[in-house]
Amino acid sequence: MEYIDQTGSTNADLIESAPHRLDRSVLVTDHQTAGRGRLDRRWDAPPGANLLVSVLFHEVPAEAGELVRRLSLAAVDAVRLTVPGAGTVGLKWPNDILLEDGKLAGVLAQRSAEGAVVVGIGVNVGWCPQDGAKLGDGIDRPSVLAALLTAYDALPRSPDDLIIRYRDELSTLGQRVRVQMPSGDVVGDAADVTQSGQLRVRDDDGKTHQIAAADVIHLRPA
Ligand code: BTN
Repeated sequence: MEYIDQTGSTNADLIESAPHRLDRSVLVTDHQTAGRGRLDRRWDAPPGANLLVSVLFHEVPAEAGELVRRLSLAAVDAVRLTVPGAGTVGLKWPNDILLEDGKLAGVLAQRSAEGAVVVGIGVNVGWCPQDGAKLGDGIDRPSVLAALLTAYDALPRSPDDLIIRYRDELSTLGQRVRVQMPSGDVVGDAADVTQSGQLRVRDDDGKTHQIAAADVIHLRPA
């Protein structure tokens, strides 16, 4: 594990230096000046406020999305362990960790030219954007990171067992959702995730859509 005071993006750093680093190298920083989020968005936080960390994987499972699910589940476990009174923690498909209904953390996976995968997570510890959620000011970020890495190692090894755990934590399931895709929105009930992590949504005509990548909004009943 390496710590740096400040960088552009821990994901970008690990992608660039992947050939020279060991499997499961971890890079953590206090401040990113060009933090990356999903769908080409930025991921910003004031210096020293949040947990910003990336993990490099040279050993990539057949379905690389499994690494995102692993880090997300580890984050859920770490929050429950380190901040037991924080509130209800769960997952929102595809890559968010929720605290109550607010976004507590986001996960971003990127592939290097050589085929390695870097999975980064930003956890709102001392700061969150409007409508987001955070753990709180007195929370020790290194303790959250240590719990995250320990929880990662304690996850079920088998992909079949992992997806069962993932379904259990996925608060999207059973919700009325709007799925936003370039081809148009789908509104319906989130019914299941497939073995490879695709979301199944049943629309009001009874048609099932299997979605690999999109933004999802949890809709409240009117
Ligand atoms: C999202 O859009 O929800 C994903 C955000 C991922 C942010 C983390 S912070 C550490 C790592 N480095 C980055 O540049 N991004 C990820």
